[in-house]
Amino acid sequence: MTHPPDRAADDALDTLIARHQNRPGALLPLLHDVQHALGCVPADAVPRIAAALNLSRAEVHGVVTFYADFRTTPPARRVVKLCLAEACQARGCHATAARLSAATGLAVGETSADNALSLEPIYCLGLCASGPAALVDDAPVARLEGPRLDALIAELSR
Ligand code: FES
Repeated sequence: MTHPPDRAADDALDTLIARHQNRPGALLPLLHDVQHALGCVPADAVPRIAAALNLSRAEVHGVVTFYADFRTTPPARRVVKLCLAEACQARGCHATAARLSAATGLAVGETSADNALSLEPIYCLGLCASGPAALVDDAPVARLEGPRLDALIAELSR
């Protein structure tokens, strides 16, 4: 399925397709399950999903690319999602972003070439009074500045 061929991923995709194939409205649940199992919805899964659900490749691709939840490449080993919404802007998230970018060499929205780290934007985590807020490997972090930001940068540099 991927290059080099990944037999386990192929088998997982077959199993998930078989599980969802005859259910009404199968596309979104199937895509969620594929992403959960494989970490992403790989491009070469799209034609197989389309054929199984009697949809066009364009329809499946359109859904994968429309929803921000779906990704077409595996996630980085470490993922920092920094909130860039209004309340966090007022609390200095751009300064936090600048420090993270300077320390990692990544702009927000970029992933390192070795897939070790992604720095991604996110828009409101419900921690507005405690910004700048972030998700670090899915764990919420409030007040990501000062010593807490120093500690994260040191951790990411290891
Ligand atoms: S605006 Fe950043 S957590 Fe709400």
